[in-house]
Amino acid sequence: MARVLTGIQSSGRPHLGNILGAILPGIELSKNPENESFFFIADLHSLTSLKDGALRTEYVRAVAAAWLALGFDYKKNVFWRQSRVQEHTELAWYLNCFTPFPMLANATSFKEKSEKLADVNAGLFTYPALQAADILLYDANIIPVGKDQKQHLEMTKDIANRFNQLAGAEILVLPEPQIDEAVMTVPGIDGQKMSKSYHNYIDIFVPENELKKITKKIVSDSTPLEDPKDPDADITFKLYSLVASPSDVAAMRQNYEKGGYGYGHAKQALFECLLEKFAEPRRIFNYYMENESELENILTEGEEKARAIAQQTITKVRKILGFSS
Ligand code: TRP
Repeated sequence: MARVLTGIQSSGRPHLGNILGAILPGIELSKNPENESFFFIADLHSLTSLKDGALRTEYVRAVAAAWLALGFDYKKNVFWRQSRVQEHTELAWYLNCFTPFPMLANATSFKEKSEKLADVNAGLFTYPALQAADILLYDANIIPVGKDQKQHLEMTKDIANRFNQLAGAEILVLPEPQIDEAVMTVPGIDGQKMSKSYHNYIDIFVPENELKKITKKIVSDSTPLEDPKDPDADITFKLYSLVASPSDVAAMRQNYEKGGYGYGHAKQALFECLLEKFAEPRRIFNYYMENESELENILTEGEEKARAIAQQTITKVRKILGFSS
């Protein structure tokens, strides 16, 4: 059985772009009976940018509720909050002391922000060492991530090697990244990539009237209703083609091309499609958001499974470093 592990960002409520680009593909991967999936919410990493505790709690709950609502099987797999398994923080410190300064200084994630060093905190700088700890605690074999994480995984291997060299044995298991090159880009309502920071996202878990309002705001050109329209140049059509069935997409394409079909019609069709496709996830999401203790219980169950494994690794590491009695 291969152990698949990945960290899920929790810097906001998940939107349609996160769902189509990361959550649904992650859940698909976890359905492989040959794999055991270790998916955790990287709430410690979120502290490098988000300081507000109440917001963090809300986002972590929303992220967890979304994964569960979309069908992640938390019983077969392991699903937990990084911050609740303290071994992450402990191993991160040890690994920090095996991480050369130039390696961190060379990380793209840091270099992007290094123009304004006053805004860079030490946590952001050593972010890759915490990520290495996340992975190495669990002897994870396969790490599915986006292209932007490739460098962090190379650093993880490098750090593990340095530790193993000191130990004189393969104590930490070197992971293999599984880079998904074909990540779907989901356009936001303004046509740029859908992203929280561009404020152009569609949150599919909001009440019906709000969902309708946001679909109405999708940008379109001013072609009159009667005229034929180019579906491939339109944002509403692109979004529709990512969520609707192939036959419904083909029908909408025809409507665009023959004319007499307005963008308002297309937006209404997209709205209805989202409501129908995500009816069950919307219901389950709201259920978990309202039943906090049930969500808590699920995450606690996952945390216990994770901790049992993490403790075995940390015991070995402490021994090698002379921290055990
Ligand atoms: N840095 C990752 C991201 O931004 C999230 C993450 C944290 C992660 N720890 C991890 C991914 C461990 C894979 C493995 O997406």
